[in-house]
Amino acid sequence: MTTDLLIKPIVYQEAFEYAEEDEAQSIAELEKIFVGMARIVAEKESHAHRAVHAKGQGLLKGTLTIKDDLPPQLAQGIFAASASYDTIMRFSSPPAEQLPDSVSTPRAVAIKIKGVPGEKVPESLGDDSQDFLMVNGPAFIRPGPKAFVKDSKLLAMTTEKMPRTKKVISAVLRGTEAVIEAVGGESATLKGMGGEPMLHPLGETYFTQVPFLFGTYMAKFSLVPISAELLAFENQSIDANDDAQRDSMNVFFGSNQNASAQWELRVQLCTDLEKMPIEDASVEWPQDISPYIAVATLTVPTQVAWDDAISSQIEDQIAFAPWNAVAAHRPLGAINRARKIVMSASREFRASFNGCPVHKHDQRTK
Ligand code: HEM
Repeated sequence: MTTDLLIKPIVYQEAFEYAEEDEAQSIAELEKIFVGMARIVAEKESHAHRAVHAKGQGLLKGTLTIKDDLPPQLAQGIFAASASYDTIMRFSSPPAEQLPDSVSTPRAVAIKIKGVPGEKVPESLGDDSQDFLMVNGPAFIRPGPKAFVKDSKLLAMTTEKMPRTKKVISAVLRGTEAVIEAVGGESATLKGMGGEPMLHPLGETYFTQVPFLFGTYMAKFSLVPISAELLAFENQSIDANDDAQRDSMNVFFGSNQNASAQWELRVQLCTDLEKMPIEDASVEWPQDISPYIAVATLTVPTQVAWDDAISSQIEDQIAFAPWNAVAAHRPLGAINRARKIVMSASREFRASFNGCPVHKHDQRTK
């Protein structure tokens, strides 16, 4: 608790959020690019997937328990009172196509916390859940939507092109990334293009990368493995076969030995607007001045983590979105404003192409 007492979070003010002059135009470009990618894949496969994060790697039910001894700075929003909520997690891979896992890209997870109290933001999906979307790196690749348009164009150019060549490129990039890491650096661009190390998704720490309201304050979130069984997967390599991630999840969660999967959901409060900007998503907020602190525990029991026929049907019918939020955790900053428009367009496209609405909750996940 000593750390909590030292933290003096800044109270949110509207003036902390401001748009670049041509933000609307950049967001419109992103919308066109992302829906374009989804359309290319849909026409090739006669089925629409998410415009990105198309390949689901695991769909898991669990329980989130809010800690009951939180100090006032942390007892905010849905974390204000101790409670337990049902959750759904969807692990995924970022590209628009269902690529073999030998094309190794960042690991991602989306969490839906069901039945939370509190008024929702108007842009929410109209249910009573709170979603958090995370990737295994602490900061976004670019400061804002304008800079991200370039990366997105590059991504769109490779969609459904040369999947076999992509495997080779990925293997080369993984080697290059290893060289860069050996000299003390990391390259988000290389990782995004297939240079991600082939590590076990259950050993990773995940981050929202961008900020959210945290009651009266502002914060980023992370999901950190804490049970010994998950910690054993930290930095552990998995095979580079086509469905290596799904297989690794099924081996762990499908085991009869009461596998214990436990993560902590942690928050990093904004205590310095210069060092922890709201409008520049590429800045990693320094953990030495504001560490991530646990506010809840997520427990996931033994179950089938992925079943080709059932899981792919379920994931078509559900949606995760940062704007599926209570007002106390409203998404902040330009990247989140872009996601409001672009993710909504992706949901609408896949629903209309597949002729099947994306529901708030699928009955089978209740
Ligand atoms: C301008 C920036 C971004 C854009 C345009 C964007 C766009 C999208 C789109 C179109 C989808 C598919 C939505 C659907 O059809 O349901 C998606 C999914 C996803 N995004 Fe992003 N995204 C952005 C930034 C981020 C960031 C910062 C994170 C987290 C660190 C993130 C994590 C995810 C995850 C985990 C999913 C999969 C959700 C699921 O499992 O359904 N994205 N994104």
